Parts: sequence; structure tokens; C-alpha cells
Amino acid sequence: MAAVGATTVGDRAAIDVWITDPGAASSADRERWLDEWLDEAERARVRDARSPSRQAEIVVGRALLRSAVAAVCGVPAPAGLRFTTAPGGRPSLALDGQERLASAVDVSLAHTRGLAACAVARGGRVGVDAEHRGRRTEPIAIARRFFSAGDAAAVEAAAPGERAERFLERWTLREAYTKVLGVPLLELPRDSVAFGVESSGSVRLEGTGSAQPADQRWAFWLLRPTSGHVLALAWRGGAGEPTPSVTLHRWPSPG
Ligand SMILES: CC(C)(COP(=O)(O)OP(=O)(O)OC[C@H]1O[C@@H](n2cnc3c(N)ncnc32)[C@H](O)[C@@H]1OP(=O)(O)O)[C@@H](O)C(=O)NCCC(=O)NCCS
Repeated sequence: MAAVGATTVGDRAAIDVWITDPGAASSADRERWLDEWLDEAERARVRDARSPSRQAEIVVGRALLRSAVAAVCGVPAPAGLRFTTAPGGRPSLALDGQERLASAVDVSLAHTRGLAACAVARGGRVGVDAEHRGRRTEPIAIARRFFSAGDAAAVEAAAPGERAERFLERWTLREAYTKVLGVPLLELPRDSVAFGVESSGSVRLEGTGSAQPADQRWAFWLLRPTSGHVLALAWRGGAGEPTPSVTLHRWPSPG
């Protein structure tokens, strides 16, 4: 996979997606990230987490977030980066003392079994979601309950052997979309968004249930970062902004 190398914050219209297998991090690594990289608010979230696996998820996610931003922005020390969390749960770079970075990049995080993903966008606002294919689910029932009519119909119309995949595509797209908006998924009215997914994998927004501001545009991507995962990216930029390029990276870098 491509390395970010000499990319600078000044480059526009690019999304870098970083993935890692949380199970591959040793307990010594997690201890070090917790002690040396995370800030006090993040450590408190780890202490209050409901289970050891959620604790590990937070630590790995925050380490991934720092490493990704440091690589994209050419900042040498991930430990020096600070983040805040908006009331709805959306993470962003803290402004205080990092104004240049905070105004240059936007971030989003997702966790699922066997994968943590972090998207860093230069220009615009980004949302990422990922799901494991092994997740047991009832595609038609959940689609009818949570998706817009058009998305539920697309899941129902799929051949039985493809239904789970069509469901995961729209589920992750919907979550990635809500992460751009910064609202909890369950606060998004069912019919507020519908997607058109081509057999080529290209995605378009078919409806948002309300008029889109003329000064905004959206773009979406579906990736298969491993054989077991579906990952969706949503991006919202200004009307005149070019569609970003997307690059996938594995963290830590192989070799
Ligand atoms: C963010 C949301 C859309 C998805 O959360 P999720 O699937 O539980 O978890 P994910 O791993 O995909 O994403 C979590 C990360 O997204 C970020 N996040 C949380 N809330 C967010 C929000 N409102 N906007 C943007 N990002 C958000 C956080 O960084 C979080 O990671 P962290 O807690 O380790 O920092 C959440 O608002 C939600 O609604 N969850 C419920 C999902 C649900 O309803 N599932 C069952 C239906 S059958």
C-alpha cells in the first residue's frame, strides 16, 4: 500500500484511510500508548469503559488516530497531538495550539471485529464506518426498520446469497454519512438518506429527504480493506471542491 511519505498538510482534496488489526497490538504497545500518547480525558474514557475489549478498542483507536494525523501532516510525534470530542461523539483535532492542523484536516474513526479504521481528509469533512462480514444479522428486517424505503428495497431485491453484502454496504454508508453530520445514527430519520450503489461499486446519493445546500457536495466510496470487512467513506465538501483521491494504508506499515 502506498505510504504517505512527503505529503504535506497543504495538499488538498485527499483522504487517507488507515487500518489496523487491533488484535495485533501487544499489551505492552497498548500500555505505552495509554501512558504516553493518550491525554487525561481519553484515559478516563478507558477507565470507565464497560469491558477490557472496549478499553483496548479505545486505546488502539486513539493511537491509530494520532499516527494517521501525524503521518498525513508530517508531524513527528503522535504523542503531542490533542483531540476533542463534540457533544454527539464526533472527534476532531483540538484547536488550542494546533490551529493550523485543526483547520487543515478532518478525522473520523470506526471499530469493528478485527479492524480499526481512521480516515483523515485534507479539505472537507469525512466519515468512516466498517463492519465485519461475519456479523450475524437479519438484513431484511433491519433494513426495513432502519433504512430509507429505497435502500430497504435494494436489500430485499438482492439475490439471497448477496443480500448480506448489499445490507452491509448500505449500513456502513449510512453510518459514514451520519459521522460526517456528527449525529447519532438513531437520530437520523429513516428516510433522510438513500444511496445508489452500482455493480462497479460506485456510490451516489439518491436523496437526503431535504434540499441540499447549493454550496455543498457529497462523495462516497465502498472499500474492501480485508477479505472480511466492508468499509464505507463519506465526504462532504464545498460545491467547487474537487472530489478527493482515496489512499488506503496499513498501520503499522509493513516492514
Ligand atoms: C457513531 C455511530 C453512528 C456509530 O457507532 P458504532 O457503530 O457504535 O461505532 P463505530 O466504531 O462505527 O464508531 C465509533 C467511533 O465514531 C466516532 N463517533 C462517535 N459518535 C460520533 C458521531 N456522532 N459523529 C461522528 N463520529 C462519531 C468516535 O470516534 C467513535 O470511536 P471512539 O468512541 O473510540 O472514539 C453512533 O452514533 C451510533 O449511532 N451507534 C449506534 C449504532 C446502532 O444503532 N447499532 C445497532 C442498530 S441495530
